[in-house]
Amino acid sequence: MGMPEISPEDLNYVREMVRTRSAIVLEPEKAYLVQSRLEPVAKSEGVQTLAELVQKLRQVPFGPLHKKVVEAMTTNETSFFRDLSPFQALKETVLPDLLARKALTKKLTIWCGASSSGQEPYSILFTILEEFPELKQWDIQFTATDISVEMLKRCQEGRYSQLEVNRGLPASLLTKYFTKKGLAWQVQDDIRKMVSFREMNLAGTWLPFPKLDLVLIRNVMIYFDVPTKKQILKKARELMEPHAYLFLGGSETTMNLDDGFERVAVSGTSCYRLKKQ
Ligand SMILES: C[S@@+](CC[C@H](N)C(=O)[O-])C[C@H]1O[C@@H](n2cnc3c(N)ncnc32)[C@H](O)[C@@H]1O
Repeated sequence: MGMPEISPEDLNYVREMVRTRSAIVLEPEKAYLVQSRLEPVAKSEGVQTLAELVQKLRQVPFGPLHKKVVEAMTTNETSFFRDLSPFQALKETVLPDLLARKALTKKLTIWCGASSSGQEPYSILFTILEEFPELKQWDIQFTATDISVEMLKRCQEGRYSQLEVNRGLPASLLTKYFTKKGLAWQVQDDIRKMVSFREMNLAGTWLPFPKLDLVLIRNVMIYFDVPTKKQILKKARELMEPHAYLFLGGSETTMNLDDGFERVAVSGTSCYRLKKQ
């Protein structure tokens, strides 16, 4: 049986706290979502009601319990080669172009914001390794970030259930890059080491990135309000090399948010590049 319904005041407190700390906007009509995601946190804290949990949160300044609540409010839905066409675009257009442009320095900088449990950065790596084996000799600086420490742990472990690998991962890649660990599959060590997984709040202070060739911020800005989206796109744009590519989620766009980008059609999808000055 579920816990008693969260009160409107407590709901508002949680919505405000989550918004301030992560930019995630929880609409008031999403009370059921807040309720269902808070209940496991309350249980793990050993309290019987959400009122008690919120009281605990109110009593102390922002700390580990608040962070746990923020993480519980994130949606971590992802899969290998999600939407397929962006990976097709990487293979057919984007990576060949970057390879040509960076042939002299043989250095490639990639950032995947909001990496969730890691399927997205690993899908990019598999594309690189399969389609452009010469890149193994390059200096690839690949950073993947997320706000959720729990998700980052999953990224680092690179361990996926049968169900998760069944979602989008070709069998040939499974046998080549994973090792069976009990009922799960783990990405091999040398592959996992190719990505640096770091905690970063897109709405907070960013890591000191180098100039970037390829940026993916997919399926996360949908949770933010317009000023936050604008701020993130501006910061990302300033970090991008003039030739760089940006991929957003299928329902996301830079349109009406940042006019420094132009949309480019690639392999049945679109990505964004910096407008020429
Ligand atoms: C729906 S998943 C998208 C994962 C992947 N990019 C994809 O497209 O499959 C959204 C991710 O954004 C992360 N997230 C939410 N708010 C964030 C924030 N303020 N800063 C960084 N990451 C955030 C969540 O923890 C979650 O892992």
